[in-house]
Amino acid sequence: MNSKEQISHDDYQKTADWLKSQTKHRPQVAIICGSGLGVLADNLKCQDSFAYSDIPGFPQSTVQGHAGRLVFGELKGKTCVCMQGRFHMYEGHSLCKTTFPVRVFKLLGVETLIVTNAAGSLADGLRPGDIMIIKDHVNFPGLVGMNPLFGPNDDKFGPRFPAMSGCYDKGLRSSAMEIGKQLGVSELMHEGVYAMVGGPNFESIAEARLLHRLGVDAVGMSTAPEVVIAIHCGLKVFGLSLITNKVVKSYEDSDSVNHEGVLEVSRLRSQTVQQLVTELVSRMETN
Ligand code: 6GU
Repeated sequence: MNSKEQISHDDYQKTADWLKSQTKHRPQVAIICGSGLGVLADNLKCQDSFAYSDIPGFPQSTVQGHAGRLVFGELKGKTCVCMQGRFHMYEGHSLCKTTFPVRVFKLLGVETLIVTNAAGSLADGLRPGDIMIIKDHVNFPGLVGMNPLFGPNDDKFGPRFPAMSGCYDKGLRSSAMEIGKQLGVSELMHEGVYAMVGGPNFESIAEARLLHRLGVDAVGMSTAPEVVIAIHCGLKVFGLSLITNKVVKSYEDSDSVNHEGVLEVSRLRSQTVQQLVTELVSRMETN
């Protein structure tokens, strides 16, 4: 990433100030909706919504299944801001553009970030339609230098060398498992390790086998950069993957994955994910 792509603190602040001038909502919780999960935002009461194209400084979303709207509103007494559609590295955005909204949320006063995504499963126990609470991640692009924190550190947001151990909040994870039980969907609920790969192609069989042997439970093309930026600036993070398909790991297997299939499964389960996230927000302790 070259230094021209750096975004200054002022740029984040300008977008945050613009949003503050357009809505009375002051969110405590931010929710990033993954593919097919944008309906999460429909639950918000007293909505104020903004097309990404109308928000100064915001990148534009180009993926089918992602609406490209920022929705503010109340959910179970908490003020939330919801991204209907996120930005992916594979769209050609620099990672600081991909993660731009997270720092804006921090400046709006957000304390907790909830990230959702659609992912393919590598673990045998994870079936399409299952929900995997993210326990930890492997940020493959990050490991080889494609990290949103590359470049001069902005000390106003956080430290030069942030720790990533424990980045997915333990309390929120156990709360989500408990809620799953109470909703009667405990057979769908798992915890596991999510790996981000660059995409946009799905994995070859050899790549799938490699990921599996490395201890990855589910794979997708998002989330890790946003989480890195959120942890850097001190947000609490909760993440979940909706498993939309099994990753093909065998040369005998004639199945293959496509984006339409991914969207279909995520829409089928979006109601359950919505209930889970709503209840999680409702039980959250906020300042
Ligand atoms: Cl199989 N791979 C990746 N990288 N992302 C996905 C997926 C697979 N299924 C849903 N998202």
